[in-house]
Amino acid sequence: MKERLDKFISSQTELSRKEVQRAVKDKRVTVNGDTVKAADIKIDTDADTVALDGRKLTYKKYVYYMMYKPSGVVSATEDREEKTVLDILPDELMRDGLFPAGRLDKDTTGLLIITDDGDYAHRMLSPKKHVTKRYIATLDREPDSNIIPRFEEGIILKDGTVCKSAKAEILDGSNAAVEISEGKYHQVKRMFAALGYRVEALKRVRIGSLELDSALKEGQTRELSAEEAGTVFKDHK
Ligand code: URA
Repeated sequence: MKERLDKFISSQTELSRKEVQRAVKDKRVTVNGDTVKAADIKIDTDADTVALDGRKLTYKKYVYYMMYKPSGVVSATEDREEKTVLDILPDELMRDGLFPAGRLDKDTTGLLIITDDGDYAHRMLSPKKHVTKRYIATLDREPDSNIIPRFEEGIILKDGTVCKSAKAEILDGSNAAVEISEGKYHQVKRMFAALGYRVEALKRVRIGSLELDSALKEGQTRELSAEEAGTVFKDHK
């Protein structure tokens, strides 16, 4: 695809067009190894090798990132007061149009997908797709095994909202795993509240068949291949 150099670089990096023009002036941009003097030249995004500060930029229409969201940041693109998940992305992963696909509460940790592919996010979040999300909840006390049939029957929240059938599992200590295929506001916390438990910590560990990478530390992000990103639409076996 033929594209203007400054447009291409700003679409693939954290830099605005103005900043790209400055970077070109500062001799930070090369095309096929040669330092370029003008930001408005046309390049072929398939054939030319563009580099910024020596970092090669390969054209990607969309990107898909897996973040191990830490507690204390909000799932938004910007916020006046709070630190957002985009604020903690490493610079080299930042580019235009990124947003979190779905939300985790500020104090919830775990698997969050960040992308610039609106259709993908829409499909993932659509109630019709029934994408299952698995959470580990640490409760204020050891859960009773009767929570399993209660989740299965479909929990009625305190405000009368009826939840779909969900799967609960008792883990060690005061931990329980829950799998839900909806995304109501504070859903897991409210489901447990309806059964008389308080959720003290909540971590999302899987979406569809995509598991939180155990090599990631809290706060870290890595890129997913398009194939890995697609596994959110596959049922976990
Ligand atoms: N359910 C919740 O209560 N909080 C989350 O962050 C996600 C699911």
